Amino acid sequence: MITIGSATFAHGLWLAPMAGYTDYALRRIAREMGAEATVTEMVSAKATVFGDKKTARLAMIREEDAPCAVQIFGSEADTLARAAERLSQGADGVRPFAIDINMGCPVPKVFGNGEGSALMRDPAHIRALVHAVVQATDLPVTVKLRSGIDDAHINAVDCALAAEDGGASAVAIHGRTRTQLYSGTADREIIKNVKLSVHIPVIANGDITSGEAALAMLRDTQADGLMVGRGVIGNPFIFREILAALQGASYTPPSLDERLEVALRQLRYAIDDKGEELAVRESRKQMAAYISGFRGAASLRNRVHQACTLAEVETAFEDLLQTAVSF
Ligand SMILES: Cc1cc2nc3c(=O)[nH]c(=O)nc-3n(C[C@H](O)[C@H](O)[C@H](O)COP(=O)(O)O)c2cc1C
Repeated sequence: MITIGSATFAHGLWLAPMAGYTDYALRRIAREMGAEATVTEMVSAKATVFGDKKTARLAMIREEDAPCAVQIFGSEADTLARAAERLSQGADGVRPFAIDINMGCPVPKVFGNGEGSALMRDPAHIRALVHAVVQATDLPVTVKLRSGIDDAHINAVDCALAAEDGGASAVAIHGRTRTQLYSGTADREIIKNVKLSVHIPVIANGDITSGEAALAMLRDTQADGLMVGRGVIGNPFIFREILAALQGASYTPPSLDERLEVALRQLRYAIDDKGEELAVRESRKQMAAYISGFRGAASLRNRVHQACTLAEVETAFEDLLQTAVSF
């Protein structure tokens, strides 16, 4: 069990934030499949403070994807604090259960601005940022880190200690450096070292793509919780699989029928959230991922990649069911 502020989670099984993926629809599906908490896509603290409408939409939470943390990125204490203050209200939606600060984004534009993983260059600055955000909100503040900037600077322990000292309620660690991006394998040793060093909950992240991988991550790191990212894309059933593994129960993968039913449900949630045109365009890669690995589905995946309407995705899926052989 893990407690963050007034929220408790039996296993600490979270959906990781992923820009371009973890919209309301995927967060809601993840909750239905057993994720205990979700996180929004990262939102710019600066744009939030300027009152940008698109950014406010990205940060919007409803009952169905809650408990959900809002993740902010930025580099200035004052801007992050003002964004946290504003987002803590929940605007038209439900209040987030935590404010998460992004300290792992490797994207050149973000890193070049001194934001995301660039913050890991200076633990004292991390302490000051977290402290400023903690002062600005009554919600718990969490931090998401990588293992370090590069092989010569593996400093997640120092950064996590700085975050704890600044008042963070939990840290999530992705066991890769900024220069690794998503290559190689996530380093569990560094996550274990963070767990041995701080007193706040540690959430382990990186390469959890099965129930077995989840158990190995917990065994090797002794972490308090798990955060699952890419393994969810096209396979939100992974939360069921992980829960089964945690409970020592057997897991039966979904049938093709169920897989397609859940994919379409996700698309309908996205349509409710942002309208058909945008939802279908933005969900194409996820819809195609639901039917990846299926023999003979390449042409159907192409159709899904080009679909503009819900009906086009539905027809492609119906055709797949007609020709279904096996995964
Ligand atoms: C497409 C994509 C977008 C991501 N966006 C974010 C983000 O907005 N904020 C963040 O903290 N991490 C982001 N991440 C990193 C993930 O949260 C996670 O740390 C990383 O993918 C490793 O976990 P995994 O192996 O389970 O995917 C992103 C990753 C991917 C692949």
